[in-house]
Amino acid sequence: MSSLLISKMQKRPLIVVLITQVLFLLFLRNLLILAGTKISPWSFVIVQSVGCALMIKMIFRLPHWLVTISLLLPPLFYLAFHYFALNGTFYGVAFVFLALTFSHTLKDRVPLYLTNSTTALTLQKLIAERGAKSFLDLGSGTGGVVRAQAQKGIESTGVESAPVLWMISSLLSLVGRKGKILRKNIWKTDLKNYDVVYAFLSPAVMDELWEKVVSEMRPGTLFISNSFAVPEKQATRILTLEDGRKTKLHLYQL
Ligand SMILES: C[S@@+](CC[C@H](N)C(=O)[O-])C[C@H]1O[C@@H](n2cnc3c(N)ncnc32)[C@H](O)[C@@H]1O
Repeated sequence: MSSLLISKMQKRPLIVVLITQVLFLLFLRNLLILAGTKISPWSFVIVQSVGCALMIKMIFRLPHWLVTISLLLPPLFYLAFHYFALNGTFYGVAFVFLALTFSHTLKDRVPLYLTNSTTALTLQKLIAERGAKSFLDLGSGTGGVVRAQAQKGIESTGVESAPVLWMISSLLSLVGRKGKILRKNIWKTDLKNYDVVYAFLSPAVMDELWEKVVSEMRPGTLFISNSFAVPEKQATRILTLEDGRKTKLHLYQL
């Protein structure tokens, strides 16, 4: 397989893991049918696990944790379907709900974790210190940060594209009259109208995000990244907070 294709696939690792499982399953099933051989369900599960894990390691050269996921998926699926014979609708509904909530974990490698209250309070102070009027949370999750800033009279906006999160957070904003949440992709959001832009995303997107920040944010405005620094770019200031996880806020003055 060409190295270009492999490096493209490495950008969507979880999708590669899932597609490998499906394709290997079809391959193994058809191989056994063609060979006229029957094996026990557990033998099938073991061959599927090892086959997929080897492909993930040797062909796609993905990290160890994805090899482990590939090994564990088949036995866990088998146990779930065999020993917890719940109605298929349950699994279907659970799958759709999770997909509509965590879609970015698969696609963009940005999982869902939330800003804690110490960080939200620090953001309030930073915004007040600067006399900033408008705030944007890129990927606003359940909208807590947006509501916290709106509470202080800041024009506070969040963009979130996972449907379940957007629905819950925009409802909470609407009911509490605290800010607004747009159902929008980060990459299609114009940053030029905001005095402070906040992101709590993932190291995987920081390079691309910085390019966007530099080309769209106005001089004198502030970009804040929770936990993840922009590679090879010196932050203007780094704050280490007194919370349990010693949150680091990386501040970049434009
Ligand atoms: C780590 S969470 C942070 C949530 C919130 N900002 C907070 O700090 O509490 C990242 C959020 O970004 C959202 N997200 C990831 N990629 C996105 C994209 N391309 N467009 C919109 N939202 C995105 C995810 O759905 C998730 O809710």
